[in-house]
Amino acid sequence: MRALTEPFKIKMVEPLRVTTEEYREEALRKAGYNPFLLRSDDVFIDLLTDSGTGAMSDRQWGGIMMGDESYAGARSWEHLQRVAQDLTGMQYVLPTHQGRAAERILYSIIGGPGKVFISNTHFDTTRANIEYTGAQAFDIVCPEAADVESYSPFKGNIDLNKLVQLIEQHGAKSIAAVIMTVTNNSSGGQPVCMENMKAVRAICDQYGIMMVIDGCRIAENSYFVHHREEGYQSKSYLDIAREMLNLGDAFIMSAKKDGLVNMGGLLTVKDEALSVKCTNLLIISEGFTTYGGLSGRDMEALAIGLTEVFDQDYLHYRIRSTTYLGEKLRDKGVPVVWPIGGHAVYIDAAKLYAHVPVDEYPGQALVIDLYLKGGIRCVEVGSVMFGKYDEQGKLIPAANELVRMAIPRRVYTQSHIDYVIDVFDDILEIKNRNKGFRITYEPPFLRHFTAHFEPIN
Ligand SMILES: Cc1ncc(COP(=O)(O)O)c(C=O)c1O
Repeated sequence: MRALTEPFKIKMVEPLRVTTEEYREEALRKAGYNPFLLRSDDVFIDLLTDSGTGAMSDRQWGGIMMGDESYAGARSWEHLQRVAQDLTGMQYVLPTHQGRAAERILYSIIGGPGKVFISNTHFDTTRANIEYTGAQAFDIVCPEAADVESYSPFKGNIDLNKLVQLIEQHGAKSIAAVIMTVTNNSSGGQPVCMENMKAVRAICDQYGIMMVIDGCRIAENSYFVHHREEGYQSKSYLDIAREMLNLGDAFIMSAKKDGLVNMGGLLTVKDEALSVKCTNLLIISEGFTTYGGLSGRDMEALAIGLTEVFDQDYLHYRIRSTTYLGEKLRDKGVPVVWPIGGHAVYIDAAKLYAHVPVDEYPGQALVIDLYLKGGIRCVEVGSVMFGKYDEQGKLIPAANELVRMAIPRRVYTQSHIDYVIDVFDDILEIKNRNKGFRITYEPPFLRHFTAHFEPIN
């Protein structure tokens, strides 16, 4: 097989700074051993997130120059509205400054005390926005997802039996929405198949429940449907995305992912009455209806990005390059969530750092070692991110202790990825020296962003 090559050439470069291990040790100490608190200048390869970290194309930068900054009725807004309507089949389009603003608007309207949300897996800001309204959020990913290392083509699916059980248990009236996250970020970036989505639609119809699609990685999900699901091989990625999004009543998108922009979000809905309520909140908290939280140039770049992301060569390179990293790590004996998802490689830290107990955060230990050894920044997706405390203050751990290495879109080359693979030789050698971490400070919501840690000696 020929080497995988980037389907673009480089027109502008941003220098990276190489630091020493001693320097990074000190940087970690100053950052309270939280990678979110590191300075980006101190990071060599930044795999913290694929959100808003991508590179825009020359056409998008051209669009930036053409952005119409009119307060109302801007051309760039009309362009974005057209593209979003065509993609989702939903008439009402609300531009927001990022995904969580769209979440806050929709979930504060349909949520509240006594309400229940059910999802394949709620992303952290999704859960936080729901719980902040006083509602409850339940994750019911399919059983195949529990076995992180075994192959199954659509491990992002929702468990349909549990969905019906939960609806019956709580009563359809108290279910605010079923949220399908595609791909399923917090569950390994795994895809959702069309069959599962259609089944959810049918259940929602049966009980009269709203179905929301959190589709910030809808293009990546469409790639998997095209290549893995029977009957979709002759359909384009864009047509698959259209078919899937059309099944929803509302679509939420952090445009910082498959929108191929550095900032932006979208909320689209089918129902007019709901759109009016959402629009009122948009105007109060984000901006007027024809720009919401975005400038004209942002909307122009997003409209172009939402079209580029479905390019066949781009999507092939995108998914294959992520898979390449995962396959090479697996060959070295690093336990990874299998198969490799769309935007990230997830490492099973509970297995790799089996000597660190869950309440001493094995994922955090791996994150810190990767930065120390290679200047690589990534994020724990385990009990630091999702852990809770019981009434006695004892940790209720997350379902898995993962570390996510998210790949920014069109940013790093094959040799950067090969460097990351090489750093794992050091990790395998030194991992047993790391005894885990304790939390010394944490806020009440989304603690992983600002918590401080100290190493256990
Ligand atoms: C599935 C999912 N939903 C929502 C969000 C929140 O979007 P944003 O970071 O733009 O607020 C993210 C961000 O990573 C996400 O992955």
